[in-house]
Parts: sequence; structure tokens; C-alpha cells
Amino acid sequence: MSKFYITTPIYYINDQPHIGHAYSTIAADVAARFHRQHGDEVLFSAGVDENAQKTVQAAEKVGENLTKYTDQMSQSWEQTWKELGISYDRFVRTTAADHKKAVYAFFKAVKPDDIYKGTYEGWYCVGCEEFKKEDDLVDGKCPIHQTKPDRLKEKNYFFRLSNYQQTLLDHIKANPGFIWPESRRNEVVAFIERGLEDFSISRSTQKWGIPYPDDGKQVVYVWFDALINYLTATGYPKVGFDQWWPADVQIVGKDIIKFHCIYWPAMLISAGLKLPEKVVAHGFFTVDGTKISKSLGNAIDPSELASQYGVDALRYYLLREIPFGADGDFGHNRFNQVYNSDLANELGNLVQRTAVMITKYLDGVTGEVEAHSHDASNYNQAVGQFRFDKALEAVWEMVKGLNQYVEEEKPWELAKGDTEHLKEVLIHLVADLLQIATLLLPFLPDTSQKIIATFGGGKVNPEVGILFPKVEIDVTPVE
Ligand code: MSP
Repeated sequence: MSKFYITTPIYYINDQPHIGHAYSTIAADVAARFHRQHGDEVLFSAGVDENAQKTVQAAEKVGENLTKYTDQMSQSWEQTWKELGISYDRFVRTTAADHKKAVYAFFKAVKPDDIYKGTYEGWYCVGCEEFKKEDDLVDGKCPIHQTKPDRLKEKNYFFRLSNYQQTLLDHIKANPGFIWPESRRNEVVAFIERGLEDFSISRSTQKWGIPYPDDGKQVVYVWFDALINYLTATGYPKVGFDQWWPADVQIVGKDIIKFHCIYWPAMLISAGLKLPEKVVAHGFFTVDGTKISKSLGNAIDPSELASQYGVDALRYYLLREIPFGADGDFGHNRFNQVYNSDLANELGNLVQRTAVMITKYLDGVTGEVEAHSHDASNYNQAVGQFRFDKALEAVWEMVKGLNQYVEEEKPWELAKGDTEHLKEVLIHLVADLLQIATLLLPFLPDTSQKIIATFGGGKVNPEVGILFPKVEIDVTPVE
């Protein structure tokens, strides 16, 4: 048994969660559940990034005071994760006292020489909460947000990132598993090789944020404080925090690798702390071919989708359809199609059919059946390598194989005479389904539980009902 600490990004609360956010969190949840299932002691952290300038803007827009606004939004994010069955152990709020304590302790730990006072002159994009170089802008605008960044000139504290260029490169080279996938590792290496500049870690024109240590006139730059949340979740600086730290896996979207693979490791080295074992960056997906954007109104609420199709359907689609690490698309039609074929027809029907046959031919009674333990090394390897699509594919091979088995064995024919073999066939089905339920546990926890509830007790439990009721939508043909 070993420890496993996995993190998700902490999200900005200027808006409600959409399925893009749910993606990182669901992926981390699968890994957390997988490790728990295998007997590891798991810490799974999530949270909200509250000290951003955009929090202030969003609160102003709705005319709410900041404390009330942040409380409400943070609750709403937690509620969404609850609805999606996210099994986090810690939810960090960056306005909370324990986080501030961690930030101050971290400042004390950083090498004093790594921080100096200077003048920042340049651009700041509130959308990105990031200082921008002239080169980053297109026609004077942030290419991501299509807005003109603010011109700033202020006396700030700086972190000497330039000190860490070589150390970071050496670390990445010596630890090929540190950044996954390889394309992102190459991107990070190229970025470092272009030369690292020191970055400002305070803002003198803002009031919202964690007061800068020993300088009440400034607040800590939001990314500097946000990254430290990963330590807060371990109890840092309390004795024993290193029972969890360093993190085993940090899940992030590809948009924030610079912060997680460059700033964050440099900050940790400066503070004399270990580096995370692995940063795993997934891709971005569009909705029906279009970038998810508030202004287009295509930001799908994951709870809404889950209430229509069930949480497991959303989890299945996101992880099966989009190879982790690559970009992809969430298509409404495609989602409906996959739901009806893979979940309702292939898995749901199989479970239903098996239950009905046992009821009909064996009076519902199988006697205690032990789950099969067919070789699952492909599946295990795939989960270990974040190839979630491949892991699910391996389970579906079993599901398809089992459907074929039913077609070949034709229990309804056997029922006419060969009752001995009929029983064997039905028990074989149950033993396989119980193994499938075990393999599905990290991915589709509800479904897994339902399969076990249906067959696990030696007789069929008809109360569980249909796993995936067909959902009809107006489907426009997909080419
Ligand atoms: N607050 C920072 C993270 C700080 S972590 C110390 C932040 N927050 S965010 O609310 O903008 O969330 C960004 C994350 O949401 C991305 O890194 C990614 O994990 C996820 N996604 C947002 N949109 C997404 C898609 N369209 N597709 C996939 N993931 C997406 O950045």
C-alpha cells in the first residue's frame, strides 16, 4: 500500500462550472478511485481560485459584496462536484485562513535572494490573470480573450525565475515522466530554452487578494498564491504535510502548463520542497465544433447534462471519446449516439437481459457467484498511463464478447432441454458482469454499484431497474 496524492486545478469563480472544467475533475476522480480500489491511501484535492481580479469584476457586475459572492460561488462549485459524484478529500478555498497560513509559510521558506523589488512595466490580461509580453499579443489584443490588456507600471516584488532555467531543464531531462504527454514536455522545454524572465509576484494597484507579507500596500499575485493551494491541501506547513507532499499526479489543462511546469517547480525548489512526480496535461475540447465561450452561450452545465443522462454517461463519453492528452469535441448528437449504443444497448441491455433470464429460468437464484478474474493487464496499464479511452475500450471488448456469448449459447434454446448447461451459462454471465463492474468502478461508479446490487447477492435484485433508459433527441445526421 502506498500513498497517492492527486490534484485538480482550482477554478476561477467568476462563472459557473462548464463541462470543460468537469473534464479535469472527472479524470482526477477516476485516478483517485482507481488507487483507492487498489488499496492506496489517497488524497484527492480540488478547490477554487478566489483571489483573482476577475472575481472582483464578476461580483461588481452582479452588485454583490465580495464575501457573499465568493461564498455563494464556492458553494455552487462544490455543489456541482457533489452532483457529479467527485470524491475529493479536500476542497481548498484560497480566501480561507489555512491557505493564507500556507502562503505565508511558503514565503518564509523561499530563498530570500530569490525575491527582489523592481518595477513592472507591461501588459496584464485579466482574462488570463497573466502578465503578457508584447510578443504574446496579436493586434495589441490578448489572442485568447480578444481584449486589450491593461497597461501597468508599478513597483512590484519579483521572483527570480531566471535563476532556475538550468535546474528546470536538468530536472525535466533526468525525469522523463515529469511532464506528460511528450508533446507538452517538448513545449515546456522549448519555452525554457527561449530564456526565462523573472516574474512579478505582487500587485500594488489591487486590494483584493492575500496581503503581501510585511507590505500591506500590495497583494500577492493570484497565480503565486493559487499554486500554493496544492500544499495547503496537505496541511502545509503543519508537521506531517510531507506524508502527502510531493503530489504524485497534478492534472491540468494544456493552457496552464507554463504555470505548473515552470513557475511552480521553480517556486518549490526555491522553498526547498520536493517537486511533484508528474504533471499530466490534457487537451481542450470544443462543443459541437465551437470553442466553449460564455458569449456564445454554449457553455454546457455538467449537472444539467448529468440530470438528463446520468453522471456516468457524461463520465463515459468524456473519457472514452476524447483520448486523454489530445484535443477533442463534445458533440450533442454524438453524445446521444454513444449513450444509446455503448451504454443503453451494449452494457445496459446485457445486464437487463441477464437479469431477466435468471429470473425466468432460475427463479432469480444463482447462489453466491465469484467475479471472474480474466487478465486485465491491458486495462490496468492503460489506466496507469492515463489512456482512459483505452481502458474503457478494454472493458467494452469484454462487454461485446459477452453479448456475443449470449447469442452463441442461446439460453432460450437451452431452457428447452439442457438446464444443466443453461445454469452454467447464466452463472458465467454473472461472474463476467461482476468483473466488469469491478473494472468500471473508477469510471462509472453508479453503474458499477448497480451491477453489483443486481447480481452480487446470490439472487437477482429486480429493484435496481434499467441502467441506461434510452434518451431520444432530435438528431441531425452526423457525417
Ligand atoms: N485558476 C486557474 C488554475 C489555477 S491552478 C493552481 C485557472 N482556472 S480556470 O477556471 O480557467 O480553469 C482552467 C482549467 O479548466 C483548464 O486548465 C482545464 O483544466 C479546464 N478547462 C477549461 N476549459 C476547457 C475545455 N474547453 N476543455 C478541456 N478543459 C478545459 O486556469
